[in-house]
Amino acid sequence: MSSSVTSRPTALYGGQAGRRVTVRDVAAAKERGERWPMVTAYDAMTAKVFDEAGIPVLLVGDSAAMVVYGYDSTLPVTVDDLLPLTAAVVRGSSRAMVVADLPFGSYQASPQQALETAARFMKEGGAHAVKLEGGRRVLPQVEALVSAGIPVMAHLGLTPQSVNTFGGYRVQGRGQAGDELMSDAKDLEYAGAFAVVLECVPAELAERVTRSLSIPTIGIGAGPSTDAQVLVWQDLMGLTPHPAKFVKKYFDLAGEMDRAVRAFADEVVGGAFPAAEHSYH
Ligand code: KIV
Repeated sequence: MSSSVTSRPTALYGGQAGRRVTVRDVAAAKERGERWPMVTAYDAMTAKVFDEAGIPVLLVGDSAAMVVYGYDSTLPVTVDDLLPLTAAVVRGSSRAMVVADLPFGSYQASPQQALETAARFMKEGGAHAVKLEGGRRVLPQVEALVSAGIPVMAHLGLTPQSVNTFGGYRVQGRGQAGDELMSDAKDLEYAGAFAVVLECVPAELAERVTRSLSIPTIGIGAGPSTDAQVLVWQDLMGLTPHPAKFVKKYFDLAGEMDRAVRAFADEVVGGAFPAAEHSYH
């Protein structure tokens, strides 16, 4: 562990006043030029660890489809799958802002559908904001949510819910597509989004978008110049078997778990566990 690791890594962490981080804190961080981390969370115990470590924003991503439910894309996960995870992350944290991803098919049909789905995440899940994927085609949805008082995090670039349109998980925004992405980002800001995730886009494009927007950009595979960075926690902890190129593995959780569970199995088989101190008399 590096000695630069602190338990409160960002001044953005509004919890200094014993409260949750809000969209105003995130906006103020952009004005101060302060970078911040976001990680995904899907359950109360990991949310508590990340919250206490000072991660200011927790995302209950639809990546749960893959890392929690074992699907091979984010498409199958439903609102009913994600709602209990969102509620668990809210219960497990006390200072982070919790953002709930709207799953595929739960907002694209109309602003009304988006509003009904987002309201469930706010009322039943206790989320503080929602995230949805797409550019100009979801502007009416973003406007409807923002007018209803629901903070919206946008998501551009490699939007995994559109994997079938992209023909695979590939870098987006090269060439002329970069200008389209820039214009989508500006439109989303104008529509009221409070932040935008940029996934798998060239670093130079992410830098240009970050400089052009007054709302924060959150990069994942978008180089070093975005205002914030996000990773799926199983990727950064080394639980994912074949992570993408943009992932940095900070821990070997799969290896550590393998060692621990083998030790448990050996001790059970050999009779060393449970010992006297693990038994009631
Ligand atoms: O679902 C998710 O985890 C995400 C992040 C990777 C941004 O959308």
